Amino acid sequence: MNSFVFATHNKHKVAEVQAMLPDYVQIRSLTEIGCKEEIPETSDTLQGNALQKAQYVFEHYHCDCFADDTGLQIDALQGRPGVYSARYAGEGCSFEDNVRKVLEEMKDVPMAQRAARFCTVVALLWEGNTYFFEGKVEGLITLERHGMEGFGYDPIFLPKGYSQTFAEMDAAEKNRISHRGRAIHALVGFLEKNLLLHSM
Ligand code: IMP
Repeated sequence: MNSFVFATHNKHKVAEVQAMLPDYVQIRSLTEIGCKEEIPETSDTLQGNALQKAQYVFEHYHCDCFADDTGLQIDALQGRPGVYSARYAGEGCSFEDNVRKVLEEMKDVPMAQRAARFCTVVALLWEGNTYFFEGKVEGLITLERHGMEGFGYDPIFLPKGYSQTFAEMDAAEKNRISHRGRAIHALVGFLEKNLLLHSM
């Protein structure tokens, strides 16, 4: 059995990855390894933050692990909120505070100039080596909120080629095309191929 820690407390993220992997790979969350502390994320890049989280787990818990970090880049806001997506409206803010701030900042921006993308970087530390995987989804920031599903900026993100925001899609449909779904897909492909090679 191969075991990896996913540096997150989010049970849904862990279940999502576990469901994509063959049964000879086991994923454990931070909660499952007894890590209760807040892992620092002080880098100004997604890659830096993902690596920082994975390294923290490796240094403190000595296990193979991976971590992800996501940002929403909005062209009309010069790439903001980017790496600061979680706390765009300030420390301790809610998802709704962030959405309100983005809509307010973009209130005079016409539809044709509302391009944005979600980017996820996954950092994997495996047997002393570091690997990165990326996933992106292009889209537009809508003029107002649509839909109740999902979280974060989902109600105002309309993926390119679709007529529903992420918050109007069910989880399976969103995961198929999302930034995180794509990055995790790349990670899973890598693990499947390399774990098979290892076992030969
Ligand atoms: P994290 O790196 O996955 O914690 O994501 C950082 C922040 O980006 C979150 O707090 C959300 O505000 C936003 N975010 C990440 N993934 C999504 C998503 O799939 N939909 C909407 N917002 C997201």
